Amino acid sequence: MFKKLAVAGGLSVFLASGFALMPAQADLDFRGTISGEPLDFTGEEESPQFKEFKNTGINPYNGNQEALNKGYVIFATACSGCHGHLAEGKLGPALSDDYWTYPTNLEDKGLFETIYGGAAGQMGPQQGLLEPDEILHVMSWVRALQTEPEKAKKAVDTFEHRNG
Ligand code: HEC
Repeated sequence: MFKKLAVAGGLSVFLASGFALMPAQADLDFRGTISGEPLDFTGEEESPQFKEFKNTGINPYNGNQEALNKGYVIFATACSGCHGHLAEGKLGPALSDDYWTYPTNLEDKGLFETIYGGAAGQMGPQQGLLEPDEILHVMSWVRALQTEPEKAKKAVDTFEHRNG
């Protein structure tokens, strides 16, 4: 009787600790694009979508028109001054063509690392300026420029319509 309880107790402790550890173990290793230093998310507001992204490296907002619309609002305030109104390039490079200075940006994980942690010169880290969830939104718009240009354009049209 006692023995059985102890076994059951041990098993539940084992399961509980296993589950508690799972998310931490599954998180990918995020590092600055240039520095190679681990990115530190301490103190960040972590949306369920960001938590998912940390595990999968795939932006859950990709292709979601609502998210793209919000992403473009963020782009227009935080990025367009340097990257141009339609990400055609200005002080910073174009994000609308298929050339990447850092080929890691072809993948969502790499794109997040560049935006959150910054790159060279004027491309400062957006850590502390944008929430991780906002970065995922802006990424969904940037990604759509290549993969679903009609959705990216619709987000711009929605923004311009709203802002007269
Ligand atoms: C103050 C100007 C400035 C702002 C604001 C800025 N960027 Fe940049 N960005 C740059 C410059 C300059 C580079 C080139 C840096 C390099 O090559 O290392 C760059 C590079 C990048 C790259 C890498 C491009 C490649 O070819 O690999 C991405 C992605 C990017 N920016 C996205 C963004 C996003 C998204 C925002 C808004 C959240 C943003 N940037 C805000 C100036 C800026």
